[in-house]
Amino acid sequence: MPAFPSPCHLPGNDVPRPLSADVKSFYHLPQHEHAGKACQGTACFAARHFNPARWTEAAAQSPRVYCLGECFAAPAKGQKKPRPPVKVFSPHGIVLGRIAAGGARTLAAYRASGGYAALGLAFTAPAERVLAAVDASGLRGRGGAGFPTGRKWRAVATQPAGQKYVVANADEGDAGAYIDRYLMEDDPHALIEGMILAAYAVGASKGYIYLRAEYPLAGVVLNAALAEARDAGWLGSRIGGTEFSFDLEVYLGHGSYVCGEETSLLRSIEGNRPEVMARPPYPTERGLFDRPTLVNNVETLVSVPWIVTQGGDAYAALGFSKSRGTKALSLNSLFNRPGLYEVEFGVTVRHIVEEIGGGLRDGGKLKGVLIGGPIIGMIPPHLLDTPLGFEELAAIGAGVGHGGVVAFDEHTSIPELVEHVFSFGAYESCGKCTPCRSGSGRVEKLFTHALAGQATKADLQECHELVTALKLTSLCGHGTGLARFAESILRYYPTEIEPCFK
Ligand SMILES: Cc1cc2nc3c(=O)[nH]c(=O)nc-3n(C[C@H](O)[C@H](O)[C@H](O)COP(=O)(O)O)c2cc1C
Ligand code: SF4
Repeated sequence: MPAFPSPCHLPGNDVPRPLSADVKSFYHLPQHEHAGKACQGTACFAARHFNPARWTEAAAQSPRVYCLGECFAAPAKGQKKPRPPVKVFSPHGIVLGRIAAGGARTLAAYRASGGYAALGLAFTAPAERVLAAVDASGLRGRGGAGFPTGRKWRAVATQPAGQKYVVANADEGDAGAYIDRYLMEDDPHALIEGMILAAYAVGASKGYIYLRAEYPLAGVVLNAALAEARDAGWLGSRIGGTEFSFDLEVYLGHGSYVCGEETSLLRSIEGNRPEVMARPPYPTERGLFDRPTLVNNVETLVSVPWIVTQGGDAYAALGFSKSRGTKALSLNSLFNRPGLYEVEFGVTVRHIVEEIGGGLRDGGKLKGVLIGGPIIGMIPPHLLDTPLGFEELAAIGAGVGHGGVVAFDEHTSIPELVEHVFSFGAYESCGKCTPCRSGSGRVEKLFTHALAGQATKADLQECHELVTALKLTSLCGHGTGLARFAESILRYYPTEIEPCFK
């Protein structure tokens, strides 16, 4: 593959640029227009019968707001709701332990619960020891793809010395997920410590937390925590008396689901039009400002301090199969016990739905569950005994995704859900691939016709063809995820779909 420069790279000018008018036009919320708006995300869609007026308001709004991270109280409007219950169901509370105990927003609270011990330990040995611990842990990325974290870190660590970056993906755009939001709001130093450890391991000197605009409180809390960490000498020059220097800042997004995709996210920080880019080259080699860059999800990074203090083997002892450790899950408002829960990989989806979530509210009958959606396969009731694991869920056309768990009851008709998901898909497409840019809107329209009783068998055939094109030709997981969702629906819910196409 020939080397080509990033479209934005100006040598020696690694500074985010102000947004031009063209770049601004890509975003839905360039002026943070979400304030005070009702949410139109999939968890709110699933819960629209609890408050039809709010849903009507959300559906009529422009620009659309797709997730406020309040899925536990959906349908949602603004960050004024009580906080969700937080509990640890795994043997160790690796990511939610501190939050379940009340949180640690300040440096003093974080240190009192063992915070920054991992960094102290890491600095007593070469960076290789941190890399080896992350390798041994079997940790896989929590942002959706499940890529082995140790392998990604080594790919950056082995790049020639020079400017390198660490970026935390705090875009959390998947409707139904509010995990990263509370990790940042209630335990910000855990993310900061995880990022410093990552930077030490790979040799990076600068980091960004790419934070979605819809989480304004997280931005306030993180900036206060960064100032505390800087004052305490955990950020800046020659940290802990070592040769290692690293600083970190928050970059606030402008409203775009696809900016959660890593190449889009990096272009966004640079101030360029954030269309997805083909890989290779991978960000580990040529990422932010064309420099080697480590991009990890918030929960992935928050897992690292525990791994460094307790050892990679202790982490790998948790979980099952190729999915080691624990996973945070956020359950939507259709459950009797919506909330934020940490579980060990290997529990069944049934256990999550019936034991942890307590089944559905108001005696609702489960129609299906999306884990890590909306652009992921739906799990029908007859497959609830599938264990939570990357390969195990992929085998039934579903996935772990980001860990948001959205249940649907009999109030949701499956054709309406397809129309909703493809409407979201079309709205958030970056526009680079034709089947995603035009095809997703076409599927939405065909389902609108189907719901109005105006669709034919030929229209259903066209849907199948568009889904195949999305699956085969999409450049990123947005298009392939839409295809995965549609395939699961066509496979598991034919009795709801086929009668709509006459
Ligand atoms: C359309 C799209 C949206 C994504 N959104 C997010 C997101 O909000 N947060 C996230 O961590 N990863 C998201 N990802 C995955 C990232 O591209 C990337 O794989 C991830 O941040 C890598 O971190 P990890 O290895 O720790 O999972 C998204 C991917 C796609 C295709
Ligand atoms: S699949 Fe969609 S979002 Fe992804 S690159 Fe193609 S057009 Fe952009």
